[in-house]
Amino acid sequence: MREFLYYSTKARTSGNFDLQNLMKAGRMDIVCNVIIAAFFLSHKLREDVHLHLIFTGPPCPPRHLEFISNKKMPISKKDVAGLIKRMLYKYKEGRKTEVFPGCFIDKKNFSQLAQELQEQGKRILILDRNGEDIRKLKDEELKNVVFVIGSEKGLPHKEIKKFKKKVSIGKETYFASQTVTIINNELDRRLS
Ligand SMILES: C[S@@+](CC[C@H](N)C(=O)[O-])C[C@H]1O[C@@H](n2cnc3c(N)ncnc32)[C@H](O)[C@@H]1O
Repeated sequence: MREFLYYSTKARTSGNFDLQNLMKAGRMDIVCNVIIAAFFLSHKLREDVHLHLIFTGPPCPPRHLEFISNKKMPISKKDVAGLIKRMLYKYKEGRKTEVFPGCFIDKKNFSQLAQELQEQGKRILILDRNGEDIRKLKDEELKNVVFVIGSEKGLPHKEIKKFKKKVSIGKETYFASQTVTIINNELDRRLS
Protein backbone atom coordinates (compact mmCIF):
# COMPACT_ATOMS: atom_id res chain seq x y z
CA MET A 1 0.00 0.00 0.00
CA ARG A 2 1.16 3.53 -0.71
CA GLU A 3 -0.10 5.97 1.88
CA PHE A 4 -0.96 9.66 1.65
CA LEU A 5 -2.26 12.21 4.12
CA TYR A 6 -3.83 15.40 2.82
CA TYR A 7 -4.34 18.11 5.42
CA SER A 8 -7.02 20.67 4.62
CA THR A 9 -7.19 23.52 7.08
CA LYS A 10 -10.46 24.85 5.64
CA ALA A 11 -12.50 21.89 4.34
CA ARG A 12 -15.96 21.78 5.92
CA THR A 13 -16.51 19.21 8.63
CA SER A 14 -20.24 18.81 8.08
CA GLY A 15 -22.06 17.42 5.06
CA ASN A 16 -24.27 20.48 4.63
CA PHE A 17 -22.30 22.07 1.81
CA ASP A 18 -23.45 22.94 -1.67
CA LEU A 19 -22.28 20.42 -4.27
CA GLN A 20 -22.55 23.19 -6.87
CA ASN A 21 -20.10 25.41 -5.01
CA LEU A 22 -17.26 23.28 -3.70
CA MET A 23 -14.84 26.20 -3.53
CA LYS A 24 -17.05 27.74 -0.87
CA ALA A 25 -17.01 24.54 1.16
CA GLY A 26 -13.42 25.22 2.27
CA ARG A 27 -11.94 24.26 -1.10
CA MET A 28 -13.64 20.88 -1.23
CA ASP A 29 -12.86 21.03 -4.97
CA ILE A 30 -9.17 20.55 -4.10
CA VAL A 31 -10.05 17.64 -1.80
CA CYS A 32 -11.91 15.97 -4.70
CA ASN A 33 -8.93 16.46 -7.00
CA VAL A 34 -6.64 14.87 -4.40
CA ILE A 35 -8.90 11.81 -4.14
CA ILE A 36 -9.05 11.48 -7.93
CA ALA A 37 -5.27 11.81 -8.24
CA ALA A 38 -4.75 9.24 -5.49
CA PHE A 39 -7.09 6.52 -6.80
CA PHE A 40 -7.84 6.96 -10.49
CA LEU A 41 -5.90 5.72 -13.47
CA SER A 42 -7.26 5.77 -17.00
CA HIS A 43 -9.91 3.00 -17.09
CA LYS A 44 -9.18 1.60 -13.65
CA LEU A 45 -8.79 2.29 -9.97
CA ARG A 46 -5.52 1.83 -8.14
CA GLU A 47 -5.64 -1.17 -5.82
CA ASP A 48 -2.86 -0.20 -3.44
CA VAL A 49 -3.73 3.26 -2.06
CA HIS A 50 -4.46 4.34 1.49
CA LEU A 51 -5.50 7.98 1.75
CA HIS A 52 -6.14 9.98 4.90
CA LEU A 53 -7.85 13.37 4.87
CA ILE A 54 -7.75 15.65 7.87
CA PHE A 55 -10.29 18.50 7.76
CA THR A 56 -10.11 21.36 10.23
CA GLY A 57 -12.70 23.72 8.77
CA PRO A 58 -16.03 24.65 10.40
CA PRO A 59 -18.34 23.72 12.03
CA CYS A 60 -16.98 20.76 14.07
CA PRO A 61 -13.29 20.07 13.49
CA PRO A 62 -11.41 17.87 13.28
CA ARG A 63 -12.60 15.09 11.01
CA HIS A 64 -10.49 12.23 9.69
CA LEU A 65 -11.73 10.56 6.51
CA GLU A 66 -9.91 7.44 5.42
CA PHE A 67 -10.05 5.61 2.09
CA ILE A 68 -8.42 2.23 1.58
CA SER A 69 -8.48 0.69 -1.90
CA ASN A 70 -11.40 -1.70 -2.04
CA LYS A 71 -13.13 -3.06 -5.14
CA LYS A 72 -16.49 -2.31 -3.51
CA MET A 73 -15.70 1.36 -2.76
CA PRO A 74 -18.57 3.37 -4.31
CA ILE A 75 -16.32 5.99 -5.88
CA SER A 76 -17.07 7.74 -9.14
CA LYS A 77 -15.09 10.61 -10.62
CA LYS A 78 -18.37 12.44 -11.26
CA ASP A 79 -19.46 12.41 -7.63
CA VAL A 80 -16.47 12.43 -5.30
CA ALA A 81 -17.92 15.39 -3.42
CA GLY A 82 -21.18 13.48 -2.92
CA LEU A 83 -19.20 10.63 -1.34
CA ILE A 84 -17.45 13.04 1.06
CA LYS A 85 -20.78 14.62 1.93
CA ARG A 86 -22.36 11.25 2.75
CA MET A 87 -19.36 10.27 4.85
CA LEU A 88 -19.47 13.52 6.85
CA TYR A 89 -23.19 13.03 7.51
CA LYS A 90 -22.60 9.48 8.78
CA TYR A 91 -20.06 10.55 11.42
CA LYS A 92 -20.91 9.09 14.84
CA GLU A 93 -19.52 10.62 18.00
CA GLY A 94 -16.92 8.55 19.79
CA ARG A 95 -16.31 5.88 17.18
CA LYS A 96 -14.82 5.11 13.81
CA THR A 97 -17.50 4.32 11.25
CA GLU A 98 -17.07 2.39 8.00
CA VAL A 99 -19.59 4.30 5.93
CA PHE A 100 -18.96 2.33 2.74
CA PRO A 101 -16.49 -0.48 1.97
CA GLY A 102 -13.04 1.04 2.42
CA CYS A 103 -14.40 4.47 3.49
CA PHE A 104 -14.13 5.43 7.14
CA ILE A 105 -14.73 8.51 9.26
CA ASP A 106 -13.76 9.42 12.80
CA LYS A 107 -12.63 12.40 14.83
CA LYS A 108 -8.86 12.70 14.87
CA ASN A 109 -6.46 15.58 14.48
CA PHE A 110 -3.15 15.55 12.65
CA SER A 111 -1.02 14.90 15.75
CA GLN A 112 -3.15 11.96 16.89
CA LEU A 113 -3.11 10.42 13.43
CA ALA A 114 0.63 10.97 12.94
CA GLN A 115 1.32 9.33 16.30
CA GLU A 116 -0.89 6.36 15.43
CA LEU A 117 0.85 5.93 12.07
CA GLN A 118 4.28 6.05 13.72
CA GLU A 119 3.17 3.46 16.27
CA GLN A 120 2.36 1.25 13.28
CA GLY A 121 6.02 1.64 12.26
CA LYS A 122 5.43 4.08 9.43
CA ARG A 123 7.67 7.07 8.73
CA ILE A 124 6.18 10.50 8.10
CA LEU A 125 7.50 12.36 5.06
CA ILE A 126 6.39 15.97 4.76
CA LEU A 127 6.08 17.14 1.17
CA ASP A 128 7.80 20.48 0.96
CA ARG A 129 9.24 22.30 -2.04
CA ASN A 130 12.41 23.05 -0.09
CA GLY A 131 12.93 19.51 1.20
CA GLU A 132 15.35 16.82 0.03
CA ASP A 133 14.91 15.78 -3.59
CA ILE A 134 12.77 12.62 -3.69
CA ARG A 135 15.07 11.28 -6.41
CA LYS A 136 17.96 11.30 -3.93
CA LEU A 137 16.09 8.92 -1.62
CA LYS A 138 16.82 5.23 -1.95
CA ASP A 139 13.92 2.98 -2.99
CA GLU A 140 13.92 1.49 0.51
CA GLU A 141 13.31 4.96 1.97
CA LEU A 142 10.07 5.21 -0.02
CA LYS A 143 8.60 2.09 1.56
CA ASN A 144 6.43 2.06 4.67
CA VAL A 145 6.07 5.84 4.61
CA VAL A 146 3.17 8.29 4.72
CA PHE A 147 3.41 11.24 2.34
CA VAL A 148 1.93 14.33 3.98
CA ILE A 149 0.62 17.04 1.66
CA GLY A 150 -0.72 20.46 2.55
CA SER A 151 -3.61 22.44 1.14
CA GLU A 152 -3.42 25.79 -0.64
CA LYS A 153 -2.52 27.26 2.75
CA GLY A 154 0.37 24.82 3.11
CA LEU A 155 0.88 22.80 6.30
CA PRO A 156 0.54 24.40 9.74
CA HIS A 157 4.04 24.87 11.13
CA LYS A 158 2.99 24.04 14.69
CA GLU A 159 1.65 20.65 13.65
CA ILE A 160 4.56 19.53 11.49
CA LYS A 161 7.60 21.04 13.17
CA LYS A 162 8.54 17.81 14.93
CA PHE A 163 8.76 15.95 11.62
CA LYS A 164 12.22 16.59 10.29
CA LYS A 165 12.07 14.62 7.07
CA LYS A 166 10.96 16.96 4.29
CA VAL A 167 10.87 15.77 0.71
CA SER A 168 10.67 17.78 -2.49
CA ILE A 169 9.39 16.76 -5.91
CA GLY A 170 11.01 19.75 -7.62
CA LYS A 171 11.45 23.47 -7.45
CA GLU A 172 8.02 24.45 -8.74
CA THR A 173 5.06 24.70 -6.38
CA TYR A 174 2.47 22.18 -7.49
CA PHE A 175 -1.19 21.81 -6.64
CA ALA A 176 -1.77 19.29 -3.87
CA SER A 177 -3.41 16.93 -6.39
CA GLN A 178 -0.48 17.29 -8.81
CA THR A 179 1.85 16.42 -5.95
CA VAL A 180 -0.10 13.18 -5.39
CA THR A 181 0.05 12.38 -9.12
CA ILE A 182 3.79 12.95 -9.25
CA ILE A 183 4.43 10.77 -6.20
CA ASN A 184 2.18 8.03 -7.57
CA ASN A 185 4.17 8.14 -10.80
CA GLU A 186 7.49 8.08 -8.93
CA LEU A 187 6.37 5.02 -6.97
CA ASP A 188 5.01 3.34 -10.13
CA ARG A 189 8.37 3.74 -11.79
CA ARG A 190 10.57 2.86 -8.86
CA LEU A 191 8.73 0.32 -6.74
CA SER A 192 6.45 -1.62 -9.11
C1 LIG B 1 -0.47 24.35 -3.50
S1 LIG B 1 0.78 23.71 -2.48
C2 LIG B 1 0.79 24.80 -1.11
C3 LIG B 1 1.24 26.12 -1.40
C4 LIG B 1 1.49 26.89 -0.11
N1 LIG B 1 1.38 28.29 -0.40
C5 LIG B 1 2.85 26.54 0.46
O1 LIG B 1 3.77 27.33 0.30
O2 LIG B 1 3.02 25.45 1.05
C6 LIG B 1 0.05 22.34 -1.73
C7 LIG B 1 0.99 21.33 -1.14
O3 LIG B 1 1.61 20.59 -2.18
C8 LIG B 1 2.87 20.13 -1.76
N2 LIG B 1 3.85 20.60 -2.76
C9 LIG B 1 3.66 21.52 -3.74
N3 LIG B 1 4.77 21.66 -4.48
C10 LIG B 1 5.69 20.82 -3.95
C11 LIG B 1 7.05 20.50 -4.28
N4 LIG B 1 7.69 21.08 -5.29
N5 LIG B 1 7.68 19.56 -3.52
C12 LIG B 1 7.04 18.95 -2.49
N6 LIG B 1 5.76 19.21 -2.15
C13 LIG B 1 5.09 20.12 -2.87
C14 LIG B 1 3.14 20.68 -0.37
O4 LIG B 1 2.84 19.68 0.59
C15 LIG B 1 2.15 21.84 -0.30
O5 LIG B 1 1.75 22.09 1.03
